[in-house]
Amino acid sequence: MSSTKILDNKNIRLQGSITVPGDKSISHRSIMFGSIAKGKTTVSGFLLGEDCLSTIDCFRKLGVDIEVNGTDVTIQSNGIDKWEEPKEVLYTGNSGTTTRLMLGILSGTHLHTVMTGDASIGKRPMRRVTDPLRLMGAKIAGRENGQYTPLAIQGTQLKAIDYTMPVASAQVKSAILLAGLRAEGTTVVREKEISRDHTERMLKQFGANIEVREGVVSFEGGQQLHATHVNVPGDISSAAFFLVAGAITPNSEITMNNVGVNPTRAGIIEVLEKMGADMEVIEDDHAAEPTATITIRTSSLQGTTIEGEMIPRLIDEIPIIALLATQAKGTTVIRNAEELKVKETDRLSAVVAELKKLGANIEATDDGMIIQGPTPLHGGHLQSYGDHRMGMMSVVASFISSSPIEIDDTDCIAVSYPSFFEHVRKLKNEI
Ligand code: S3P
Repeated sequence: MSSTKILDNKNIRLQGSITVPGDKSISHRSIMFGSIAKGKTTVSGFLLGEDCLSTIDCFRKLGVDIEVNGTDVTIQSNGIDKWEEPKEVLYTGNSGTTTRLMLGILSGTHLHTVMTGDASIGKRPMRRVTDPLRLMGAKIAGRENGQYTPLAIQGTQLKAIDYTMPVASAQVKSAILLAGLRAEGTTVVREKEISRDHTERMLKQFGANIEVREGVVSFEGGQQLHATHVNVPGDISSAAFFLVAGAITPNSEITMNNVGVNPTRAGIIEVLEKMGADMEVIEDDHAAEPTATITIRTSSLQGTTIEGEMIPRLIDEIPIIALLATQAKGTTVIRNAEELKVKETDRLSAVVAELKKLGANIEATDDGMIIQGPTPLHGGHLQSYGDHRMGMMSVVASFISSSPIEIDDTDCIAVSYPSFFEHVRKLKNEI
C-alpha cells in the first residue's frame, strides 16, 4: 500500500480561490474526437490526470501524434481510417471511460486491438457495452463472454441500431454513438433518465449533424468529424470536494472559477441549494459547455432526499454528498443509486464503512443510504480502496474531525485531481 497520509486538520478554516483542473469526461473525449478527425485539433484546459493520460497513451499506440504542453494539447491525426494496428496491448489504467468509449470506437475500424486495464477495471462490467455493440455487428471477445477485460476487438463494418438504455450511463451511450459514427444507417439511443451529454455536444462541435430531443439522440452514420479547438472547463466533480469542504468546515469561504455547470452534471449544486447552503453561482457566457464562478461559505444545512432522474446528474458526487449529509440536520435519503456498486470500487459499501469508522450515523440500503445528522466526526484509519473519489472524501472529512485521520493509498487521487493536496494547502489557514 503506497502513500499513507496522516492528516491533522483540527482548527483550520478554508479560505481563498482556486481553479479546479479540467473536466475528466470532456478531456477524454477531446483526445478521442481529435484522433478520429483528420487534421489538427487543439485542446486547452486539459486534465493531466492519470485517466486522461491513459487515453493519450492508447491513441499514440494507434499512430496518432499527440503533443502535451502543460494543459494545452495538440492532436495531429490523419483520421480514423489511417490509424495503425497497435503492436502492443492498449492499457486503459483505472479508466472506465477510456475502456468503454474505446470499445465503441475500435469496433468500427479496420484494426485488431486488445485492451486491458488495472485490477479495478478488470472487475467492472463491460457487457453493458459489448452487448449493444454486438447488436451492431461488433466482434469482441473477452472473459465471461465479453464481460471483463482483457478484451480483443476485431474491427468490422457496423450497422446502426435503435437502442433503449437499460441503465443510465453516459459511457454506454457514448460507446454506441461513437460506434454509430462508423455504422450504416441511423443510430438511435433512448434514455429514460438523461446521463451526461458531453459526447452529443462534442459531436456537434466537431461538425456532426445530430438530433437530440427529450431523451432520444439520433444521427446518421458515415459522417466525417472536422478538427477544431476544444476548451475544457473545470471539472464540477473535482469542485464538489471543495464545495462540500467549504460548506462544512467552520469559518470558510472558497471561490472557484471556470467550473463546468452543464445541467446533466450539476446535480450537486441543486443538492447544496436544497440543503440550504450559503452559495453563489454566477454563470459565464455559454460556450459548447456552460461554466460558472461558484462561491461557497460555511453553511447550516438540512437533510434532503436524492433520487430518480437526479442520480445520473451527480453520480460521481455521492461519496462527498454522504459526508455533507453527516453535517446536515435531520435525515438524508439517497435512493436509486445502485450504479455506485460498479464504480472504481463498490462506493456504496465503501462510503458507509469508512464514514462509520468516524462515528457517522449512516446505513446502507439496497440502492443507496440513509444518513442522520448532524454528527461530530472523530479521527480514524481509513482506506481509499484505490479509488480517487474515496480518497478525496476522506481528506475532506479530516477538516472537521476532532482527531487525526490516517488514509491508506492517497496516490490514487492523481487519477482525476493531481493538484488536490496543493489546493488544500493553498486554502488552509490555521485559526
Ligand atoms: C462518465 C460517465 C459516468 C461517470 C464516469 C465518467 C463519462 O459513468 O461515473 O466517472 O465520462 O461518460 P457511467 O457512464 O458508468 O454512468
